[in-house]
Parts: sequence; structure tokens; C-alpha cells
Amino acid sequence: MKCLSYLVAGLATAAALDRTLWGINYDTRTSEWGGCKDPSVIAADLTALKTVTNIVRLYSMKQPCADRVLKAAKNLGLKVWIGTWSEVASPKVTDSFDADFKILQSLVKNGAITNDNIAGIQVSSEALFRYYINGGAGVNDTTNPNGINAMVAHLNQTRSYLRDNKLDFPVTIADVMDIYNNYPQLYNAVDIVSVNQFSMWENVEAANGAFTMWEHWQKIQQQARAAGKPILMSETGWSSDGTNPAIKEASPEAERIFTTDFLRVAEQMQMNYFYFASFDLSFSNNTIEKNFGIFAVNRTMKPCITQANVGPAPTAVRLFLGDKVLKADGYLSNTYTRLTMDKPSTGTSSVLDNEIWFYDNATQTLRSKSANQCLDSYGSKDWQNVHLWKCDYTNKNQKWKLANNAVAVQNGANFCMDSDPTMKYDDGMQKVQMWWCWNGPNQKITMRPINQEPVQIKNGKAWLTSSSNVITTSTTQATDSQTFFYDPIAQTIATKAKTCLDLTTYARGTKITARTCSGSPTQKWQYNDVTGQINHGTSLALCLSASSTNDAVVQLCDKSDTNQKWSMDLSNPSS
Ligand SMILES: *[C@@H]1O[C@H](CO)[C@@H](O)[C@H](O)[C@H]1NC(C)=O
Ligand SMILES: *[C@@H]1O[C@H](CO)[C@@H](O)[C@H](O)[C@H]1NC(C)=O
Ligand SMILES: *[C@@H]1O[C@H](CO)[C@@H](O)[C@H](O)[C@H]1NC(C)=O
Ligand SMILES: *[C@@H]1O[C@H](CO)[C@@H](O)[C@H](O)[C@H]1NC(C)=O
Ligand SMILES: *[C@@H]1O[C@H](CO)[C@@H](O)[C@H](O)[C@H]1NC(C)=O
Repeated sequence: MKCLSYLVAGLATAAALDRTLWGINYDTRTSEWGGCKDPSVIAADLTALKTVTNIVRLYSMKQPCADRVLKAAKNLGLKVWIGTWSEVASPKVTDSFDADFKILQSLVKNGAITNDNIAGIQVSSEALFRYYINGGAGVNDTTNPNGINAMVAHLNQTRSYLRDNKLDFPVTIADVMDIYNNYPQLYNAVDIVSVNQFSMWENVEAANGAFTMWEHWQKIQQQARAAGKPILMSETGWSSDGTNPAIKEASPEAERIFTTDFLRVAEQMQMNYFYFASFDLSFSNNTIEKNFGIFAVNRTMKPCITQANVGPAPTAVRLFLGDKVLKADGYLSNTYTRLTMDKPSTGTSSVLDNEIWFYDNATQTLRSKSANQCLDSYGSKDWQNVHLWKCDYTNKNQKWKLANNAVAVQNGANFCMDSDPTMKYDDGMQKVQMWWCWNGPNQKITMRPINQEPVQIKNGKAWLTSSSNVITTSTTQATDSQTFFYDPIAQTIATKAKTCLDLTTYARGTKITARTCSGSPTQKWQYNDVTGQINHGTSLALCLSASSTNDAVVQLCDKSDTNQKWSMDLSNPSS
């Protein structure tokens, strides 16, 4: 038996994805119509899922299924994202929220639901889509407030109950992006925005799938940031088989392409997500619906997923020319993809994302965070034009060499990036062009990794301060103890002593400590540069907060709380 288990472990490693998924959706049904898998089947399923993620997501609280999953997950050290199932009640459908809420209460009472093992809860999953868009209730009136009011009432009831019981995981309404776009009042109601998006159903090729998703995400992100809420992509994926007029391609190769691109974009754009789905279904006559799994029915990872190699993570960098940095205008601006040289952003005066680039050492590409496209220079040996273009790692026009304080394109032309302070757009912004490499002053561009740039983190007049493993705020300025480093890829805030800010307990009031940087989900932080909130990247309803005792703690996120308003100022010395 020992040999066998070693063999299985060995196979699992060889067949692993090269990223840990933020989370994955898990279907407990045994048939189209429901049922619940046996405890032994659930244990075996979760054992396979544990090799790819730390969190599994459920759609309902039906018993005995909730018990089975919670027990198996606890044994394996997996967290569970739970859900009550709701419908907007109408003459045609009944709402099962009340029944699920009772189960939630009994699980809280018997200690099966804690801050430690639950990552979050949605009170409904696409109930508003079914009500307002899909005509399930025969309703065709988008101004009818019944649906919105019913789901927000469920959310309020659930949140009050959980908070009264000192449970601090986020409570949300999961739905398609159009619902959040059509009913913006949801942004204020939820703790986090939870949206599902399948580019596959938008009749795009897999190669455009992750980009299409990102475009929709931009609108959601803009509104979520303003409301001070993180976003969770609660379902996204691509089927490996089947045909449908609404779908361009569903094949193993399409699943591989989408999954690879999606994981790359998710890492760079700090997306929290549940991949859809865990296993291909053993039931269902709908070939497309059956084949969304990362694993086949028999729990072996599908070859298209083992081949979905994301490769080494890129480095988030800024490109400095003197005291200016290379910027790209973001998707929602009317100058989308425009390149300029401009003063680095400070505080919330401009958008930091516009000056963040992802340098991939293996492919030598530079992808803009704000535009999600790659720096590309095209033309001939006599002229070159630089712009942003769809990332294509095989395209020589997108390969860049950063050497001798210059940024040279590797397409055979001897051209370097160049920015002449006298060349401006009509609005006064400085242009960026390509010119023959000659080491001139307008070409002296250097690349600086963001995670090596000192950053000061301030709440009002107080600086975030580290002293050994204790993190406080202090109004007395100091140098080393108030120097931090933020890594947008790893989502870590490191001290000068190279320890990382860590949240050991996912509950309000918990003091932040500094621990050895480990890549642990407890060490992830996401900065909202609109509200100044620093959200925990795993326990999404908690934000870094100053306190009256000067300890740095977390509290339930509230954008109106000045203790949660931080400025993150990178030092911007001239190159
Ligand atoms: C809903 O209303 C719109 C416009 O009033 C109409 O075009 C559409 O056909 C209706 N849909 C259904 C399902 O009744
Ligand atoms: C939900 O709670 C919010 C904040 O407490 C309140 O303003 C709102 O009226 C409530 N909505 C419903 C439908 O219960
Ligand atoms: C699938 O098709 C078979 C044969 O036509 C039928 O008996 C079965 O009920 C169908 N199952 C579902 C889930 O629709
Ligand atoms: C698991 O299922 C897949 C897809 O049906 C099949 O190709 C593979 O051979 C199976 N593996 C094992 C170990 O049974
Ligand atoms: C970058 O790539 C080059 C050549 O491909 C390699 O020699 C170098 O070690 C890489 N650097 C880093 C930091 O990965």
C-alpha cells in the first residue's frame, strides 16, 4: 500500500498545474436533478482538489451535503465558500432561502462554521439573472424592485446573523456581470462584488477569452473600487467539448488556451476567483455543460490542464526616464492604449496602474497593467512606431531588451524607445516614440521592479511601522522601520527585514504581525487606490486598520472609516 500511495503522490506532482488556484467550484450532485455524493466520494474529490487549490465553493446548504463537505474539507485543511440557494419568489417559483438559512444557523450553532474554515458566503447564485433577464419568473420589467429588494434583504439578514456570531467572512450576491451593471445599488449592499463570466458564451475564440473577460471586468472594477469593495470572479472557465451556435469553440485545446491566459491575467490583475469547474460531470446529456472540469470524472487531471503552463511569474516594473515614467492609458479612458512619459503617480492624484508593466523575462515582453496589452514596435529598419497591441509571445515586435540604460526592440531594427520632452499631444502629455539607438538622453530608460521600491504607508499623520514582528502606527517618523515593499504579483507587503505582513486569524480586531515571507494566503493584501483601503487578499471582508492603541489590526471593511484610509507612496527617485 505504501508503494501505491507514493506512486499516486508522484503522479499528482507530475500532473500539477503551475499555479495554485484561488478557489474552485465544486458540484456535489449525483444527477441533473440533485442528490449528494457519498462521504467517501466527497473525500476523494476534495483530496484531488487540494492539489490545485485552498478553497472549494458550494452552491447550496442542503443537508446532508453541507455536513459531508465541511467535514471532508476540515480533515484536509481546505476552506469552503458556502451558499444559500435563493430564488426571487413569484407565482411560478418558491424561494428556498429560508430553509437554507435554518441550516446555516444550525451549522453555526454546532461549530461547523467558523472564521477559520469558511471563506465566504453568497446568499444567491444568479437568482437575479433568472428573474430579470432569463424570464424564469415571467417578469420582464427591469424597473421592478422586487428582485433586488428580496436578495438584499437575504443578504442583510445573513450578514447581521453572522456578525452577531462574530463571523467575519464576506457575504455577497453572486450573479452575472450584467446584473451588477444594471443594478449598481448592489455595489453598496454587498461586502464584495461576486460576478460570473463565461467568454465562451460570447462567441469568441479561446485566444480572446481572457481578454474579453478582462474588458468586462474593467467596468465592474471601476465601480467596485469606488464603492470600496473587492471583486470575486465566482465562476469562469471553458468547456473542452460540445457544439452550440453561441459558441465558437469547445475543445481540449480551447480549454488549455483559456485556462493559461486566464491564470496569467488573474495573477497580474489581482483577480480573486473560483475556477469553473472541478470535475467533468458523470451525468447530463449536455456535452458542453459536462466538460468544464479541470479533472476528468475519474479525478485524473485532464491533459489540456496539465499542459496549461503559465510559466514563471513576470516582474511588475516601472520604466523611468529621468523623473518620469512610461504610462499607458487604461481601458475606460477615451485615450485607451495611448503611451506617454509623465510624473509618477502619488497618493490618489493619478492612477498607479497606468505606470505598472509586467516584464516577462522568458518572453522579453512588457504588458501594461492598465491596458492589458503588450508594448509593440513595428515598421522597417528605417522607421519604427511603438504602440500597444494584443500580447503575442511569438511576435518579435514585442520583444524588448533592457540594457545600457535603454529599451531596445528585438525585431532586427536597431531602434530604442525615446521620449523627447518637446514632443507633446494636444493635451500637453509627453509623447513616446522609437528612434535609432544612440544612447541619447531621451533614451536613458531604466527598469525598476516595484517590489524593490521603498514605499511608505500612512494613515492620516501616522506611519505604518514595524518593530521585529510587531506592526503599529506611529506619528514619529523613522526610516528603516517605516520602509515597506509592495509586490503587486505576490500581493505581499514586506518590511525592510524581509518579513511579510500576515493575518493569522481571519477575524476583526486581529493584530497584524510580520512573519517570514512564505507565499501563504494569510500574507496577501490588495490596495484600493480610490478609497485607500488595503484589503486582505484572502479574507476579503477585512481591511487593514489603524486603532486607538496604535496596533495595526484588521476590521470589517468600511470605506467611510478613516482608520482604513491609507496612502501608499512609492519613493520616486530620478533615474
Ligand atoms: C421584454 O420586453 C422587451 C421590451 O419591452 C421586449 O422586446 C422583449 O421581447 C420582452 N421579452 C420577453 C421575454 O417578454
Ligand atoms: C439592507 O441593509 C442596509 C444597511 O443596513 C439598509 O440600508 C437597507 O435598507 C437594507 N435593505 C433591505 C432590502 O433590507
Ligand atoms: C439523457 O438521455 C437519456 C436517453 O435519451 C434519458 O433517458 C435521460 O433522462 C436524459 N438525462 C437527462 C439528464 O436529461
Ligand atoms: C480517466 O479518464 C480519462 C477521460 O475519460 C481517460 O482518458 C483516462 O485514461 C482515465 N484514467 C484512468 C487512470 O482511468
Ligand atoms: C532572464 O533570462 C535570461 C536568459 O533567458 C537568464 O540568463 C536570466 O537568468 C534570467 N533572469 C532572471 C532574473 O530570471
